[in-house]
Amino acid sequence: MKNTFGNSITITLFGESHGEQIGAVLDGVPSGILVDIDYIKNQLSKRRPFGCISTGRVEKDEFSIVSGVFNGYTTGTPICLLIPNSNTSSKDYDQLKYLPRPSHADYTANIKYNGFQDYRGGGHFSGRITAALVAVGAILQRALEEKGIYVASHISLLRGIKDKSIDGLDDLVSVNCKAFPVIDDDVAVQMQKEIENAGEQGDSVGGVLETVVLGLPAGIGEPWFDSLESLISHAMFSIPGIKGVEFGAGFSFANGYGSQMNDAFVLEGDQVRTKTNNNGGINGGISNGMPIVFRSVVKPTPSIYKEQQTVNLNTMQEQVLEIKGRHDPAIIHRARAVVNALTAITIADALAVKFGTDFLNKING
Ligand SMILES: Cc1cc2nc3c(=O)[nH]c(=O)nc-3n(C[C@H](O)[C@H](O)[C@H](O)COP(=O)(O)O)c2cc1C
Repeated sequence: MKNTFGNSITITLFGESHGEQIGAVLDGVPSGILVDIDYIKNQLSKRRPFGCISTGRVEKDEFSIVSGVFNGYTTGTPICLLIPNSNTSSKDYDQLKYLPRPSHADYTANIKYNGFQDYRGGGHFSGRITAALVAVGAILQRALEEKGIYVASHISLLRGIKDKSIDGLDDLVSVNCKAFPVIDDDVAVQMQKEIENAGEQGDSVGGVLETVVLGLPAGIGEPWFDSLESLISHAMFSIPGIKGVEFGAGFSFANGYGSQMNDAFVLEGDQVRTKTNNNGGINGGISNGMPIVFRSVVKPTPSIYKEQQTVNLNTMQEQVLEIKGRHDPAIIHRARAVVNALTAITIADALAVKFGTDFLNKING
């Protein structure tokens, strides 16, 4: 499947950055789920650009739900959500028809679609498309919270500046309320300064988003190929700009001994837990009841205002590219909402595969 992801619950994305509308279809969601419009708006606000660390293209993200919701609750049929594009400035992108931006999808899309792709604003590869994903993902994120399953992400690393880890539900709730997703407020100031500095120089920066899922019961995931790690990383790598995913101790497993890295089992009351969580809450592709912890690296925004070298696909000559248009010096703070939404969709799907369509009635009591 190309623009569709999921097994029991599926999301389909459509639209282009400067097309009339973007949208998403969410299918397989059980009936009777509250669709909290304010909650959806709040998640969308986390994806929207803000301050001087983001693009000048600010869309209102006014959405309409045209099917699958009646009297404020899901009906069980496909939910189609539409968001019009209004704040477009397509003439800024005329040059991109033949001058592909380094590190963006302009060149590969041109090759794949034989030049028929909508290149304006990055077309179907634009971060803009993620607005619809965030909106429909919010329906499931809210539903999971009702069942005690919480998702949050924070910027754990940005050009050497490190945030502290999410430690329990209080940190998770607090970071989810913040416009700039960093737990330590002093660290947040430093990171924003770093983004501003890059922007002033016409440059961009990336960083690492750490995601935590609390409250997921043990036993979720379908080895081999739909293991929880496989599903989550498939989802994360679908997000434009994400170039690496690691779980728990991740690549630092390479430096430790088994005796240091194994997560010893302990009893907390009658619950089996682990003393450490180096495996990020997953063993054998199945959740073990500990928090799910994974990190995704977001690359520096490809569109920068510094001069770059490219190839003119018309003349087949090397050429200097000066990018116009409106671009974020960093996308990581905005990508947080996208990561959370797609994590919620992925977790909800994995639960639906195990428990069936009415899964929300069967988890965590
Ligand atoms: C929320 C969000 C906003 C984005 N905004 C921009 C942008 O303003 N300029 C840009 O060059 N890339 C932006 N990107 C990243 C590109 O869409 C992405 O790098 C490009 O499609 C190439 O895909 P790849 O990086 O996964 O290879 C954004 C990504 C996201 C998730």
